[in-house]
Amino acid sequence: MKEDRFLEESEDYVNYPRLWNFVSGQFQCGLGSVHGPSHWRRVEENGLYLAKKSGANLTVVRLFAVFHDSRRENDYTDPQHGLRGAELAYQCRGDLFDIRDEDFEKLYFACEHHTHERFNEDPTIGTCWDADRLDLPRVGISPSEEYMSTEFGKEIARSGGFS
Ligand SMILES: [Fe+2]
Ligand SMILES: [Fe+2]
Repeated sequence: MKEDRFLEESEDYVNYPRLWNFVSGQFQCGLGSVHGPSHWRRVEENGLYLAKKSGANLTVVRLFAVFHDSRRENDYTDPQHGLRGAELAYQCRGDLFDIRDEDFEKLYFACEHHTHERFNEDPTIGTCWDADRLDLPRVGISPSEEYMSTEFGKEIARSGGFS
């Protein structure tokens, strides 16, 4: 039983298909939303790419992608959506996934604060935020180096982003 063992990073447990199904199924803004699953997939891809140089925890980056905007109630103003996304991660932990406490704390923090904080020096949290911001071209905004936390994120923003 996964509850009975100490979780090392290499023993992270995530049932990605069930997790994506469940989280997408409860999303309120519709599958065509600019904050919906197609955005989550690009955040995941961006984060995994950034992690090659930033040294981020890959499981936290992938979990952030699916949870961070998952509880948005509209595509306009919803300042509490990050906190609700973090709370959904809390509810799913132990069932759809499990990770070590210190990694869960980073996931929770990254989700809760992704909209209103600018930088984070922790490579995992910084990578999550950069991955999200590097997907701003979907809404017509060029990613700015000034809003990147990681060196690799700044480099990508300087060169015009991924699009
Ligand atoms: Fe968001
Ligand atoms: Fe986002």
